[in-house]
Parts: sequence; C-alpha cells; structure tokens
Amino acid sequence: MDKNTTTPPLITIERHIFEQQRRFPQATGTFTKLLQDMALAAKIIATETTRAGLTNILGSAGSDNVFGERQQKLDLFADKIIYEMNDHTGRVAAMASEEHEGIIEIPPHYGTGNYVLLFDPLDGSSNIDVNTSIGTIFSVHRKFTRDAHGTMEDMLQEGKRLVASGYVIYGSSTMMVYTTGQGVHGFTLDPAIGEFILSHPDIKIPPKPLYYSCNQGYEKYWTPGVRRFVKWLQGIEGKGHTPMGHRYIGSMVGDFHRNLLKGGIFFYPGELQDKKKPYGKIRLMFEAQALAFVAEQAGGYASDGVGDILEIRPHSLHQRVPIFMGNTELVKKAEEYIHNYDQEWLSYYLPHRRKGTELDDLATNAKESRPNKKK
Ligand code: AHG
Ligand code: MN
Ligand code: MN
Repeated sequence: MDKNTTTPPLITIERHIFEQQRRFPQATGTFTKLLQDMALAAKIIATETTRAGLTNILGSAGSDNVFGERQQKLDLFADKIIYEMNDHTGRVAAMASEEHEGIIEIPPHYGTGNYVLLFDPLDGSSNIDVNTSIGTIFSVHRKFTRDAHGTMEDMLQEGKRLVASGYVIYGSSTMMVYTTGQGVHGFTLDPAIGEFILSHPDIKIPPKPLYYSCNQGYEKYWTPGVRRFVKWLQGIEGKGHTPMGHRYIGSMVGDFHRNLLKGGIFFYPGELQDKKKPYGKIRLMFEAQALAFVAEQAGGYASDGVGDILEIRPHSLHQRVPIFMGNTELVKKAEEYIHNYDQEWLSYYLPHRRKGTELDDLATNAKESRPNKKK
C-alpha cells in the first residue's frame, strides 16, 4: 500500500465499535456485538422504511398500543425486528419497548447476558405516511441484579448509569449515531454495500445555536415560564438577542439530530392543562434518557426544566418527562425561566419527579429492615 495516500480509511461501524472495545482490555466483546446487533436491526428497518410505499406497510395496523396510541404497521415491524435480533444472542437479559407495557422476557430456551436493552422502535410514527424523517431510539443498561433474567430494577436505572445509547434516523440517508460515553459518533448507511460508514466522528454541538424546536401550536397549554423562554429565543424578551429560527418536524429523532449538527434546542415541556399530568409527552426510559446521554456526550445538556434528565430516578417504565435539550446555555436559560415563573407548575410536577427517589428509599429501607438471612 502507498503510505502517502491521502484517502482516509473506510471505517465501518463494526470496525469502529471494535476499536473502541480494544481500549478496554477487560472487555469480553459481548457489548460490542450487542451494538452490532442494533446496527443490523437498523439496516433491516431502513430497508423497509425506504420501500414503505411499495410493500403495503404504510398506514395504521388497526390496533392501539397499551396506551391507546395508534400503532402503525412499521412500528410493529421495527419492534419485532429489534426483538428478533436480540432475543437469542445470550447478550441481553431482558428488553423493554415503547410498544409493550411490561418487560419483554428472553425465551427460556435461550441464554441471557449482562445487559438490558430499551427501545422506541419507531419514533415520529405519525410521519411515516408522509415520507418524513423517522427514527429508532435505543439504550443499554448493565444488569445489576443477581437474577439471570433482567428485572424491573435493572430497567429503571438512572440515565447516568447508561453504558450506551443512540438512535437511527431514516431520512434522506439512514444514519446511526451512538455513544458509549466516549463521544458521539455518526455513521451513514451506504446502500450500495449495505454498511454503516463513519461519516461524523466525535460530534460536538456547534457553539452558536441556530434553531429552536417545539410544538408551538400547544403554547396555550404551556407554563408562563416556558412562554417567556420562547419569547427570549425569538429575541422579543431580553436584550440584544438575535431571533433564532424555528424548525419542528414532529419526529424527536429528526428534530434532535438537526439541532445536534446545527446547534439549537429541542423541547417538549410540561403542561398545566391537566394538573395530574404535568409532565408532557416524551418517555423517560425509551426516548429521553437515550438522547440526553447523546446530548451530554456531544457537549450539550438535557433537562426536565428542573435538573439533569440523566439524574432523574425513574419510577416506571412508561414514565413521561418534560424535556429541554441541546446547547447547554439555552437549556440552562429554560431552567432559569421555569424556576422564576413556574412555581405553580413545579408544585404539581415535583412530587411526580420525586416518586422515583421515594421508591428507592422504600426499597433501601425494606432491605435494611429485612431480617438477616443465613450468610
Ligand atoms: P412516537 O412516534 O414514538 O410515539 O413519538 C412521537 C413523539 C416525538 O417523536 C415527537 O417529538 C412528538 O411525539 C411529537 O408530538 P406532537 O405531535 O405532540 O408535537
Ligand atoms: Mn417516540
Ligand atoms: Mn415510537
């Protein structure tokens, strides 16, 4: 080979994951293979999303998920593929999906491993029928209970304990973006060879943000602080601030991805419309934690308006959480407005947020008060 060649090496996702693993001599390779399984699932889902109009897979499946949300055929297809790529490998102890109420167990005839996998198989599914970007979101926690099968405790871990997370965006091209806590790396699927090729190494959110993304149509339901914050983004409130552009697709993966590369903030705030549901729409375990980890690793920040999303103690699998994520100074500004103007909303939201901590305390107390078993 000519050593003077200037062509950069073609780095496939497999090679990249493998090279990251080599930095940890104690690594067994299981985790590396788990990420490769996700990449394979992504390729299969991408094949269908790009041919959806041709394969009778557009539209509603005629069923609702357990939360009454209409399931699209592609939602169910993606859910099945991710499950099938991971059920038999012996790498995963349990899975959980936005489309299922409880834990998805590994069939008894297959082995189990040290990780639990959580996913939103298709994000932005209301956009499937109109040929707009959609995505898949995934995250991996290490199983810490002794049970060979993953338990709810293994699932409900804080985001700061994630070992990996990422997303796939099915857009003008298909990209997989992931982090294992060593920066954020993006790979573009080359359809000619069917491989994800490193195209965006070590992504960092640009310091000068361009866009804010939210469903402004729901402003009526927002809190006073969030309304003021948006006026600030628009340069109406505060001094000398150039207005930012507003862009919103309604696919969080798409909106987040654009803002990750261009700089900006995505938010889906808490609301006051129903005081029993002050937390907005986005799911902590299937959507928020995963993207918060990516945002943090790209030099940004994700908050629920009160504090770091990655520090929230989860209390249920389908828990919803307000989310503000992107450039750190914008997210901090949102927190400031909420702190200054949203005391009423906080009085409804904080008990909901604390529930995880209280459950944790209960569990610890229960363990401590349990009579000592034979050692
Ligand atoms: P999903 O398709 O997985 O249910 O998620 C949709 C989410 C998210 O992707 C998006 O940001 C948001 O819903 C859009 O909601 P609105 O239509 O309320 O803006
Ligand atoms: Mn989603
Ligand atoms: Mn979904």
